[in-house]
Amino acid sequence: MKPRIETELPAGLAERAGLIARHWAAQGSPFIAAKVAVTLDGRTATRTGDSQWITGEGARADVMRWRRAFPAIAVGAGTVRADNPRLTARNGHEPDWCPIRFIFDGRLRTVDGPVLPHVYADAFRARTIVVTTDHSGSEARRRLQAQGVQVWTFATPQPRVPPADFRRRCAEAGLTGIYVEGGSDLLSQFLVSRQLDYLFAYRGPLLLADDDAKPVFSGWQTEKMTGAIRLTGVQHEVFAGDLLTRGHLAYPERPVCDQIPSGPASLSSRAGG
Ligand SMILES: NC(=O)c1ccc[n+]([C@@H]2O[C@H](COP(=O)([O-])OP(=O)(O)OC[C@H]3O[C@@H](n4cnc5c(N)ncnc54)[C@H](OP(=O)(O)O)[C@@H]3O)[C@@H](O)[C@H]2O)c1
Repeated sequence: MKPRIETELPAGLAERAGLIARHWAAQGSPFIAAKVAVTLDGRTATRTGDSQWITGEGARADVMRWRRAFPAIAVGAGTVRADNPRLTARNGHEPDWCPIRFIFDGRLRTVDGPVLPHVYADAFRARTIVVTTDHSGSEARRRLQAQGVQVWTFATPQPRVPPADFRRRCAEAGLTGIYVEGGSDLLSQFLVSRQLDYLFAYRGPLLLADDDAKPVFSGWQTEKMTGAIRLTGVQHEVFAGDLLTRGHLAYPERPVCDQIPSGPASLSSRAGG
């Protein structure tokens, strides 16, 4: 049994926290939600990786409120390299709040440079957990640990941690909810392996109209509309010009998995580390 991670929530979040708590109580497994900011034509970044900003201040403030409700956030290494995010909840009138910050980085390429990203160097770095594989270098792992950053190492055939294995490890640690904030590579793996329970899609009123802009999700083979992943319990909220659509993800019964960018969805690691 792995050690449990103690988390507490700021006050005033009962309603949002209820969504997470109900899932945990029913499933004994963390509630995993995706958050995306997306253009009207379904893109999350331009062809050069620019994504700031697709939505306005109101929508971004709502994301900050959700960050306070979830005990943990997750992003991929590509997002850390492109945006160097802080992944804290900031609202200008309360102290900054930092959930557990999971960084998926199978080869630890975010540790390559002389200057470490914010999530490995700021005052909350002890709340960062890097999710990596035994394909990463021990030198890079030691560098993170010397910073006080935690490292979860999974033994895997490829430098990718299967989302289902990550979920199991989070359940063992007592983490009740994970807010996966991107990018599209990481989100697509969670979706294709059916590990996303809920979607928050903030749509900004803009079009990129560029085939080389990043699509929000990929890897699902959908020949008929019956093969689509649908939202249930749908709610809409408007933030100035932006529209939030959120709901539970309902997957079709028949597997229609096409591919995950770097390996089959069913890929399972040999052991937790
Ligand atoms: N609009 C939005 O809501 C939003 C949100 C976040 C980010 N973005 C944008 O999206 C772009 C980044 O997205 P992205 O799709 O390129 O990258 P990403 O999903 O953030 O990260 C992908 C990288 O993370 C590592 N990784 C992915 N899955 C892993 C796994 N299962 N286990 C271990 N490591 C894993 C791999 O690193 P290696 O290849 O090094 O092994 C992979 O290349 C940026 O332009 C950013 O600005 C937009």
